[in-house]
Amino acid sequence: MKKTALSFLSKLGVVALSFYLVSCSPNPQSPGIEYMPDMYRTQALEPYSGNTNYADSMEARKPAEGSIARGYLPYGLPNTNEGYAKAGELLTNPYPNSEEVITEGKVIYSKMCVHCHGKEGAGDGPTVAAGHPPPPAYNSAALARLVEGKMFHSITYGKNLMGPHSSQLNVEERWKVIRYVQTLQNPDGEGEAKESTDEVEPMAEDAPADGNVEAASEEAEPEMTN
Ligand code: HEC
Repeated sequence: MKKTALSFLSKLGVVALSFYLVSCSPNPQSPGIEYMPDMYRTQALEPYSGNTNYADSMEARKPAEGSIARGYLPYGLPNTNEGYAKAGELLTNPYPNSEEVITEGKVIYSKMCVHCHGKEGAGDGPTVAAGHPPPPAYNSAALARLVEGKMFHSITYGKNLMGPHSSQLNVEERWKVIRYVQTLQNPDGEGEAKESTDEVEPMAEDAPADGNVEAASEEAEPEMTN
C-alpha cells in the first residue's frame, strides 16, 4: 500500500518536473513549448500581418473583378433613357399592395421624400417653400400613370433635380416606398380609371397602378436589384 503511494508520487513528480522544464524559456516573450501549436496559431494569415503571396504584400485584397456579393444582384439597367424605358417594361414590384407594405412605405416616405414631394405628394414639401424647384405632383398628368419600374429606376439613379437614392434605400425599401407613392398617385384608389393627356405614355400591361398585384406578380420577374 505504502509502496504504491510512493511510486505514484514519484511518477507525479517526474511529470511535474518535465512540465516545469519544458515550459520555461529565458525569453519572457516566448510561450515555451506549445502543445498542438496549430490550436493557437491560425494557418490563415492574420489581418495586416503581410502577405508573401503578392509582390505588394498587401493582405486585404479587393474581390476579383466581376464578383457579386452573396444575396446581392446588381441592377442591370444602365442610367440612360433606354434603361429607363426598359425598367418600365421589365420591373414589377415584388412586394404586395398590402396595408403592411404601404405602412412601411409611408415611414420611408416621411423620412426620405416628404421634404421635397410634400405630405400628399403634391410637390409642396418644405424645400419648395425654401426655394427648391417643386417636383411634379404624383397625381399630375405627368406622373399619375408613371409605371412602377420607371419609379424604381428614377429612385435608384435619380432624375434631374432629384438625387439618386440607391445608397440610402436598399432594394426592398425602394419597392416599399413605391407602394406608398402609388397611393398618392391615385388618392381615390381609381387607378385604372385615371384619364390622362395624350403626352403621357400608356401604362405597361404588367404595371399595377391600381393594386392589381396578383396579375403582375405572376409574370416572370427579372429580379433586377441594386
Ligand atoms: C431633393 C428633393 C427630392 C427628394 C428628396 C426626392 N425627390 Fe422625387 N423628385 C424630385 C424632383 C424635383 C422630381 C422631378 C424630376 C424630373 O422629372 O425632372 C422628382 C421626381 C420623382 C418621381 C418621378 C420620376 C419619374 O420617372 O418621372 C418619383 C416617382 C419620385 N420623385 C419619388 C421619390 C421618392 C420615393 C423619394 C424618396 C425616397 C423622392 N422622390 C425624394 C425631388 C425629390
